Amino acid sequence: MSIQRTLSIIKPDATRRNLTRVINEHLKRSGLKVVAQKRLLLTKAQAAKFYEVHAERPFFSELCEYMTSGQVVVQVLQAEDAVSLNRKVMGATNPEEAEAGSIRAEYALNITENSVHGSDSLENARIEIAFFFAEFELVV
Ligand code: CMP
Repeated sequence: MSIQRTLSIIKPDATRRNLTRVINEHLKRSGLKVVAQKRLLLTKAQAAKFYEVHAERPFFSELCEYMTSGQVVVQVLQAEDAVSLNRKVMGATNPEEAEAGSIRAEYALNITENSVHGSDSLENARIEIAFFFAEFELVV
């Protein structure tokens, strides 16, 4: 195990309901430290690029539409084993399958409006962090 960084996104369904602070408290309680954070309104092109691995999936256009429907908060989280820790803290993609007490079980509305995104591997974490943050923004 080692100290890792992972990318987190608080999605439009959560920012619309003013859940940013509550979700940040949940992350902190779970041992994930927010080391960088900014609030953005993504363009369609940015959302499509970020989620390009899903471009052939049937939900892709709905996903891009949704991710540009409101503000997002992009974050870099740091912890021991941060990638898998954050996946556990978020819960399953589909909130109906998410473990009780996880962020998605508590706050997600459905499989699209599922409140948070988290990198699924260390390699993708590096790619996703670089997508949103310059090295000089990561000061810890
Ligand atoms: P996220 O972890 O951000 O990664 C891809 C997103 O696509 C996922 O969360 C959901 O918001 C969205 N999505 C919508 N439908 C599906 C589906 N059937 N399977 C996986 N992801 C889906």
